Amino acid sequence: MTRYHPVLVALHWLIALLVLMALVAGGAVLEHMPNSDPEKVAALGPHMVIGIAILALMLVRLAVRLLTQTPLPADAGHPLLTQAGHWAHWALYALVLAMALSGVALSVQAGLPGIVFGGEGTLPESFDVYSARAVHGAVASLLMLLVAAHVAAALYHQFLRRDGLFRRMWFGARG
Ligand code: HEM
Ligand code: HEM
Repeated sequence: MTRYHPVLVALHWLIALLVLMALVAGGAVLEHMPNSDPEKVAALGPHMVIGIAILALMLVRLAVRLLTQTPLPADAGHPLLTQAGHWAHWALYALVLAMALSGVALSVQAGLPGIVFGGEGTLPESFDVYSARAVHGAVASLLMLLVAAHVAAALYHQFLRRDGLFRRMWFGARG
């Protein structure tokens, strides 16, 4: 087996794009907007929709991942590094799911579905009083670090080890 299943490949790149959009929208825009800002409700809508889409796609992806054959872990040059890559991939699944679930929990705690999509009432003064907000913020930092390490590792394989890693996460004959 030389490549991941094509459904997994399509989901990898689609979810990568959505996760990067959600991380940038959350960390660069939402976090710095006070809840009293009249634009905030409009800014929350797309973030919540993208977050829920990520949750649904990630559950499909997990099922496809568990049901299809995958290539053996790519040789990173040292057995411990190769192992780390394997576990890092499962950690990415766990952190993305934790991110989406804590987002849903926060939105329930703060009554966001009605406020953002139903036009009922106004935003609470701040989200900081909700336990899920702390989880969402902490997991966001971990996920940003892991995605940075993941991209660095992919570039290390592709350009320093020159082992053609990207082919494994692209479409084509699977051998
Ligand atoms: C745009 C930047 C990204 C690049 C260049 C990239 C590249 C890659 C490559 C080349 C592989 C194949 C590794 C192998 O053969 O074992 C891979 C696997 C993987 N990537 Fe990414 N990736 C990116 C973003 C992401 C993001 C944002 C996530 C988190 C949602 C992610 C999650 C995964 C996972 C979990 C795997 C393992 C395959 C699986 O079990 O589904 N990647 N990535
Ligand atoms: C994988 C999916 C998601 C990612 C990557 C993501 C990312 C982020 C990030 C980076 C922040 C800023 C946190 C900080 O830096 O402290 C944030 C804030 C937030 N997110 Fe998400 N999020 C996701 C899913 C969701 C979902 C599903 C919802 C709700 C249904 C949601 C609602 C919120 C809210 C209400 C905030 C708080 C904004 C504020 O404090 O003003 N997120 N998100």
